[in-house]
Amino acid sequence: MVKVAPSVNKLRKKQDSKTERKGDLAPNPEMWAALNDGQLLNEILDDFYEQVFTDEKLAHFFKDSTQQRAKEKQYLFLKGIFTGEKCYFGERPRNAHHWMVISNELFDYREKLIEETLRKHHLAEPLIKQWIAVDEIYRKQIVKTEAFGKKVGGIEIPAEGYDVDTLTVGSMCDGCEAELAAGSSITYHVRTGKVFCKNCTPEDAVL
Ligand code: HEM
Repeated sequence: MVKVAPSVNKLRKKQDSKTERKGDLAPNPEMWAALNDGQLLNEILDDFYEQVFTDEKLAHFFKDSTQQRAKEKQYLFLKGIFTGEKCYFGERPRNAHHWMVISNELFDYREKLIEETLRKHHLAEPLIKQWIAVDEIYRKQIVKTEAFGKKVGGIEIPAEGYDVDTLTVGSMCDGCEAELAAGSSITYHVRTGKVFCKNCTPEDAVL
């Protein structure tokens, strides 16, 4: 057996253990069987994100993401809930959506879209209800009227705004794609990490 760091052993132990969640978040073997051990979940999410990425109300939230990435995150998140396996290591929904201003109406709108997609893929009605009940658990964490900072280790990280820095290695402006030499002063967006040259620094950047 290869010797590994204690942190790796800890992670492996966590992955091997099962969740003890109760209620709507309890493992749901019936759901996972109906999802054909994930194969149907994959197809459903392909279809769902195909619609989301061209939806006039939802697409703009995903402008810094890709369909593949969004789908894979959601797949592991839901697999973790439905099977009870600890396979999702992404952000918790509160942090993942911290910068998105999502109203109850928009949440309902997305919910309707997923519901219709589940029906289109012939998931049984009681299972659709159970899926929606899972989504509903996260409504409180996702719906908000103002963006809030993400909490990492109890510290709030800002959601919006810019800061300045000096590049230690050469890079490229995320606005005009001009080359930025090492040593140049740039502004960067605190959440997305996008880097801007002087000309492309947005006017509303508060520095
Ligand atoms: C109107 C409602 C929603 C919108 C606009 C929305 C939008 C987004 C966006 C833009 C991302 C980032 C994708 C990326 O980084 O590639 C994301 C990530 C995610 N969302 Fe949502 N979402 C919504 C509702 C939900 C709900 C109801 C759930 C859970 C049941 C959920 C679970 C997740 C998860 C697990 C991630 C991945 C987090 C990570 O990056 O680690 N979302 N969402």
